[in-house]
Amino acid sequence: MKITVFGTGYVGLVTGSCLADVGHNVICMDVDADRIARLEAGEMPIFEPGLAAMVERNVEAGRLSFTTDARSAVAFGVLQFIAVGTPPDEDGGADLQYVLAVADTIGRYMNDYRVIVDKSTVPVGTADRVHQRVAGALESRGVALEYDVCSNPEFLKEGAAIEDFTRGARIIVGTDSDRVQELMRDCYAPYNRNHDKLMFMDVRAAELTKYAANAMLATKISFMNEIANLAERLGADIEAVRRGIGSDPRIGYHFIYPGCGYGGSCFPKDVQALARTAHQNDYHAELLDAVEHVNDRQKRTLFQKLSRAFDGELAGRTIALWGLAFKPNTDDMREAPSRTLMEALWAAGARVQAYDPEAMQECRRIYGERDDLTLVADRVQAVQGADALVIVTEWKEFRTLDFEWLKSQLSLPVLIDGRNLYDPETVREAGLMYYAVGRGKSLQTAPQVAMTD
Ligand code: UDX
Repeated sequence: MKITVFGTGYVGLVTGSCLADVGHNVICMDVDADRIARLEAGEMPIFEPGLAAMVERNVEAGRLSFTTDARSAVAFGVLQFIAVGTPPDEDGGADLQYVLAVADTIGRYMNDYRVIVDKSTVPVGTADRVHQRVAGALESRGVALEYDVCSNPEFLKEGAAIEDFTRGARIIVGTDSDRVQELMRDCYAPYNRNHDKLMFMDVRAAELTKYAANAMLATKISFMNEIANLAERLGADIEAVRRGIGSDPRIGYHFIYPGCGYGGSCFPKDVQALARTAHQNDYHAELLDAVEHVNDRQKRTLFQKLSRAFDGELAGRTIALWGLAFKPNTDDMREAPSRTLMEALWAAGARVQAYDPEAMQECRRIYGERDDLTLVADRVQAVQGADALVIVTEWKEFRTLDFEWLKSQLSLPVLIDGRNLYDPETVREAGLMYYAVGRGKSLQTAPQVAMTD
């Protein structure tokens, strides 16, 4: 099957290369000539495990190519995936300018039946808008051609995107056309062998499914963070509570880990966009507002714990950070809790000494050179000469830690763990002041660290 993918960002590249990997012929189109040139040279614009090798083998096999030429891209595939960005606009909604620009392009150049597949995360009703834009472009050319628009949202987790594409729980397709159903079945047949994962529904239901899935997951996290904050005040251990509630299959063990707040390109943006859609339809989605509010508050808790441990005296202190990415196995720092923490520390006059296995280049790109930010080559260097250590991202390499050694490195024995990686008893036995998330009366009853200079 011939397939065109517009957009060579995260979703577009994963979609294009996974479809090529099962034998389809795929062209990925992007307006960014520089990015296409780099892709042709084998350079990935993002870090995603397994992606570079997959792109390379499919380019070599002649099934995957890249172009900036819109006319040939539209001429190529009967399926035209739109996988361009939908960044948040000023009001927290999704900015659709790139999606609609692709619709214009397809309408301008198409000469045959085309299925336009909305892969980008777009508000409910976008397929209708895409339909109108293509109609407008065809009308101005004075031609009448058949086409359909369907919704096929992605459910890719960064760091596990290839696994999610190839072995995802479901493949959602929103369409009312039998012809589209058949083409989409052909497209996904290689990934739909053992049991039927394809779910066909109306277009608006498919568009809403994507937002509902992310909002539900974000709700689980904010709920757990709320209970964790309560656990701290009550002297209960949230890890025991997590296991206790997770054992009920109606709740389940997945995605109920408390932490320092969710980040990334999806949850914050999608929860906001769904709340805004509700508002535009005269409905106040109170729960969604609360999910976002709890998360904003949670991202500030690392700083609050530090500030309390240092009695509010953070000026001139050096704080070590382990982890900058919003989660492990990615270099993405969008909406990352590390940013909320670093910015608060700088505002308080503290210095940051940070290490992340993948995200340091991204951190440099965002913040540039600053006197109060030192990026170091490994986790050992991060704590050298530091006053306290904060763990922000649960990279695997942080899971073991010699607590005695850490104590000998820090000028004050403060370890703040935003991901509940360690057993509190063990850490405290080593003489560290350990503040995790929701693990007993950590900050409420712990004695203040004696201030020394
Ligand atoms: C998410 C969805 O999982 C995916 O289906 C969707 O297509 C895009 O958004 P992603 O943003 O890549 O994927 O990351 P995910 O692994 O879901 O984690 C999101 C955030 O939630 C991270 O900041 C993570 O640290 C946090 N999280 C996750 C928790 O705090 N607790 C948990 O139990 C799980």
